[in-house]
Amino acid sequence: MIIFFSWLVLLQIMLSHFCLKASYSLCGSLKEIDIYQNQRAKEMGLLSRKATCNSHGQDSSYFLGWQEYEKNPYDEVKNPKGIIQMGLAENQLSFDLLEFWLAKNPDAAGFKRDGQSIFRELALFQDYHGLPALKKALVDFMAEIRGNKVTFDPNHIVLTAGATSANETLMFCLAEQGDAFLLPTPYYPGFDRDLKWRTGVEIVPIQCTSSNRFQITKSVLEEAYQQAQKKNLRVKGVLVTNPSNPLGTTMTRAELDLLINFITDKEIHLISDEIYSGTVFSSRAFVSIMEVLKDRNLESTDVWDRVHIVYSLSKDLGLPGFRVGAIYSNDPIVVAAATKMSSFGLVSSQTQYLLSAMLSDKEFTKGYISKNHKRLQNRQSELVSGLKKAGISCLESNAGLFCWVDMRHLLSSNTFEAEMELWKRIVYDVKLNISPGSSCHCTEPGWFRVCFANMPEDTLTLAMQRLKSFVSSFTINNQSDKDSKNARRRSRNKWGWFRVCFANMSEDTLRLAMQRLKSFDSSITINNQNDKDLKNAKRRSRNKWVFPAIVPILA
Ligand SMILES: Cc1ncc(COP(=O)(O)O)c(C=O)c1O
Repeated sequence: MIIFFSWLVLLQIMLSHFCLKASYSLCGSLKEIDIYQNQRAKEMGLLSRKATCNSHGQDSSYFLGWQEYEKNPYDEVKNPKGIIQMGLAENQLSFDLLEFWLAKNPDAAGFKRDGQSIFRELALFQDYHGLPALKKALVDFMAEIRGNKVTFDPNHIVLTAGATSANETLMFCLAEQGDAFLLPTPYYPGFDRDLKWRTGVEIVPIQCTSSNRFQITKSVLEEAYQQAQKKNLRVKGVLVTNPSNPLGTTMTRAELDLLINFITDKEIHLISDEIYSGTVFSSRAFVSIMEVLKDRNLESTDVWDRVHIVYSLSKDLGLPGFRVGAIYSNDPIVVAAATKMSSFGLVSSQTQYLLSAMLSDKEFTKGYISKNHKRLQNRQSELVSGLKKAGISCLESNAGLFCWVDMRHLLSSNTFEAEMELWKRIVYDVKLNISPGSSCHCTEPGWFRVCFANMPEDTLTLAMQRLKSFVSSFTINNQSDKDSKNARRRSRNKWGWFRVCFANMSEDTLRLAMQRLKSFDSSITINNQNDKDLKNAKRRSRNKWVFPAIVPILA
């Protein structure tokens, strides 16, 4: 009997485990994985809180949109009605330049030096300091992107597996669990994962708004600082993205000066994520935070050690798959600690070898940077004019792989619910995956990030056609909605005359009648917004017979 019951219990556990696993493999969404993990964790009590919590932020619409795209990806031939991916900040516009260089330099990708194989050397390479040749080539490339107005010391650089790893490593170096970093909104949705998830660091938003093109001001900085203090969080620094993801704009010199003053005053750090520095395609020119430090002769001050730059080749060179990022810091302790930590996310030796050869070719890098700029500029113009034809405008931008698009006029109300409603229609009906502003923590509903450099030109044209016809059908529907409302109003006006008697009742009764009419009138005004409610109000009023007896007069 005991054995029988033990078998039954075991069978039940196995069945529930199987069902959860089956639902996971059928649906496969991150949310379902979370539910599956949490239930399992409860069953087993063996997994860490980190593994089962959802502070990674990956269930935001930014990532959910990618999943929807994966289920139904657009393909010109195989799936022409599929979703076009416009939510991915990839740069595919200059691959031919990289491929041309690779064809001319076969040794770099072929594990060879001067025609001789260096396979064994690369296979065994495991120095976490990285290849000196790559570090030198990378700092030179960074200087070239900044018009050689600043130079960088290769001894101050730490190689990491992309900017993702660089940002997290800096959090581990600069803050304790429960400390806070201030970030201007809107910001890159991945920061919730990169800065917070494993480190336990908190993000406090610096609330920027469209009233001044989302620029940072002294008052919003102070406000964020106060907010953090109210929550008993110790502020360890500010993190900005310059050029901004998702705005596609570079920071002004005044904003950068303000930031330096602020971190000096509060004695905190500044991280400048300059991952898009090579995408600045038109004026205003890009000013790196390092330039500001040097211009203001801050080399021998405390502030010098508290400013850190994050860089990566994911955007400027279009190589997110190669996982090459870097931390540049003037603080030797940060450099030493981050170098040790980079063991958890090193760049593979063959990638380091290949890129050191490519980036050391100055003729190539110069040509690449200027051609890439032109291509990005043309593509951004195409997006802006396509949007304009659809009656949509965007924030004026000069950098990045995306535009910050204003669709506030398409919202049914000024709420984030309405933003999600519009986003779903754009993803499921128009079949474009774009990123809603709420996923970037924007404080104003109706803004969307739209990427332009991760697709062929024809696909962008098709995307704009889809958007244009959506907006016109939207406008027509809205117009016909308005027309029918007007028609109803007109018909109400036409039949709106009533004779009201006043001499057949006491004064009190007349007063009561007027009160009833007044409350009916205000309920109509409130419910007028919504047709259904209006009908119900009328129905209610008919049913309850709240009117005094009045007789319509046909005009
Ligand atoms: C501002 C910003 N920082 C960091 C990253 C992560 O880049 P990586 O692919 O180098 O990890 C991104 C990627 O989109 C980004 O936009």
